[in-house]
Amino acid sequence: MKFQEIRNNIYYCGLNDVHRKIFDELIPLEHGTSYNSYLIKGSEKIAIIDTMYPPFTEEYLKNLEENGIAKIDYIIENHGEQDHSGSIPALLKKYPEAIVVTNSKVAENIKSMLLVPDEKIKVIENNEEISLGDKTLRFLISPGVHWPDTMFTYIVEDNVISTCDFLGAHYTFDDVFAIPSEELEHSAKRYYAEIMMPFRVMCKKYTQMLKDMKVDMILPSHGPVYKEPNYILDLYSNWTSDSPENLVVLPYVSMYESTKSMIDYMAEKLGAKGIKTYKHDVVDDDLGELAMRLVDAATIVLGTSMVLAGPHPASVNLAYITSVLKPKAKFAALVGSYGWGGKLFDLISQILNPLRLDIVSEPLLVKGKPKAEDFAKLDEIVNAISEKHNSLFK
Ligand code: FEO
Repeated sequence: MKFQEIRNNIYYCGLNDVHRKIFDELIPLEHGTSYNSYLIKGSEKIAIIDTMYPPFTEEYLKNLEENGIAKIDYIIENHGEQDHSGSIPALLKKYPEAIVVTNSKVAENIKSMLLVPDEKIKVIENNEEISLGDKTLRFLISPGVHWPDTMFTYIVEDNVISTCDFLGAHYTFDDVFAIPSEELEHSAKRYYAEIMMPFRVMCKKYTQMLKDMKVDMILPSHGPVYKEPNYILDLYSNWTSDSPENLVVLPYVSMYESTKSMIDYMAEKLGAKGIKTYKHDVVDDDLGELAMRLVDAATIVLGTSMVLAGPHPASVNLAYITSVLKPKAKFAALVGSYGWGGKLFDLISQILNPLRLDIVSEPLLVKGKPKAEDFAKLDEIVNAISEKHNSLFK
C-alpha cells in the first residue's frame, strides 16, 4: 500500500481494521476502526507518530518496507495504550537506531506494558521541541483526553497537529481526508460519547485551545484527517457544552412488560408535552446508541424489573455505565416493577450518586402490572420532569 501524502512530506501510514466488531470488549463498532500512524520526513531526520495495534504489526512493518523507509530516527508516542504503542518493540527491532520520544507518563506505561528499555526512550517536557531539519515537532502534554499520559504533537512549520485519540472516530476510509457526512458525524459522536464524554471538561478546554491555535489540519489516531478543523471542533463545542437538550432518555430492563409499559406510557406523555424522548431496551438495543443520546439528554428515566430481591443485573450494569460516562444530564427518575418483594432502587441510586442528578420524584415501584393509581403517579413524574425541563428551555 502506497502511503498517502497528507501535506508536504507528512504521510499516512496507518491501517484500517474493517472487521473489528467491538472495542475494549465493550463498545460495538459500526464501521470498524483505523489505527492511525503518521510518517514525517524532515530534511535531516525521519519521525513516526504513533505505531500500530499489535495484530497488525506485520502488515504495518511490511508497508514501511514497501514504501522504502530504511531509517526511522524518532518514534513519537502520544499515548501508551497499545492500539497505538503496541508495535513499538517490533519497530525498534526493525529500526534499531530509532528512539522513542514521549512524555514521562507514556514512558512509564510503555516500560511496564511493552518492556521498552529505558535507554531507548527520550523523555520530553511540555512544549519541548525536536528538529527534523526543516520540520519541528513540538509536544503539548494534554492529559485527560482520555488517559493521564496523552499528548499532542504539533508540526510547527506545517501548522498541523496530531491529537492522539482526541477528536477521533471509529471509522475506516480509502482516502484519509474526512468527507463531512451524517455517517461520519454519527461515528464521531458515538466515539465521543463512549470514550471522551467522561472527560467532557478537558475536551472542552482542548477544543478551545485548538480553535485558538487555528491549526490547518487535525490528525487524530482513529478515523479520518480533518483538513477543515472547524468541522470537528464545532461538533465538539456543541457536545461538550454545559447545556443539555430538551431530551429524556428512558433506558429500561423489563422481564414481563410491566416496566416497559410504564416507560412507554411516560414516553408518550412526555412527547405530548413537546419533549423529545429516546427509549432504550438495555438487553436488545445497541449500547453505543444510548451513549450518544446521553451526550445531549437533560433527563434520564431508568426503568427496571426485579430479579430475586434486587434490581435486574442488566440495570445495575446500565446504571454503572451511565455513571462512568458522566453525561451532562441534570434530572432523573426511577421506575420499576417487582414480583414478590425486595429493594429495587437502593443500589441503582447509590451507583448513580456521583452524577448528582436531581431526582424529580419519589421512585415508583409497582407490584406486577401498573394500575390506574400507578399511571396517576407516572403522570406526576412526567409533570415533574416537564416542569424541570421548562425551567431549562424557556
Ligand atoms: Fe486509541 Fe486510548 O487508544
